[in-house]
Amino acid sequence: MKELLSEDEIQAGVERLAGRLRADFEDRPLTIVGVLTGSLILLADLIRRLDNPLRVALIRASRGRAENRSRTALVIDDTLLPNLAGRDVLVVDDIFDTGHTLVEVVAQLAKHGPKSIRSAVLLRKTGRSDVAIEPDYIVFDIPDEFVVGYGLDYVDRFRNLPYVAALEPTDLTKD
Ligand code: IMP
Ligand code: MG
Repeated sequence: MKELLSEDEIQAGVERLAGRLRADFEDRPLTIVGVLTGSLILLADLIRRLDNPLRVALIRASRGRAENRSRTALVIDDTLLPNLAGRDVLVVDDIFDTGHTLVEVVAQLAKHGPKSIRSAVLLRKTGRSDVAIEPDYIVFDIPDEFVVGYGLDYVDRFRNLPYVAALEPTDLTKD
């Protein structure tokens, strides 16, 4: 595994994001919606750096794997959401890769009638976007490599690493 972003770099990046959000939202009440499961660590670190009145909510986006290992359709579970009508919402996710997850999560949130929806991601992969939108807040642009740590997983492993690392081919074969 090759470290891409150290724990200190990530913490400094999260502080920069919090600073921008504090400036942009001031003391407007905000509902922060974390996308499970990858956003968990970012969500926990980010909310502790904000001081506007905020509510924390969760939505789940997951892509299964078919028996032939090809990826199946994205499934979005919004049953954990509180009432978002008239609220300023900030969706927080771990990574913007093709962008399909963010597009579908935003579309689902829009059905709940919020006043506004903004989005923030820790990472954006270079040259991968396949959609017309961009996240409003991006903490780091990274090369097109498969990364783990700080919430991001490879088959449910490595989410607990405090740094972000690129997997190397030998990591993929280990169990
Ligand atoms: P997108 O829909 O292609 O933008 O992919 C976004 C989702 O795919 C993220 O929320 C992650 O769960 C997952 N993902 C994309 N790239 C990576 C990666 O490099 N490591 C771990 N998960 C990833
Ligand atoms: Mg995810």
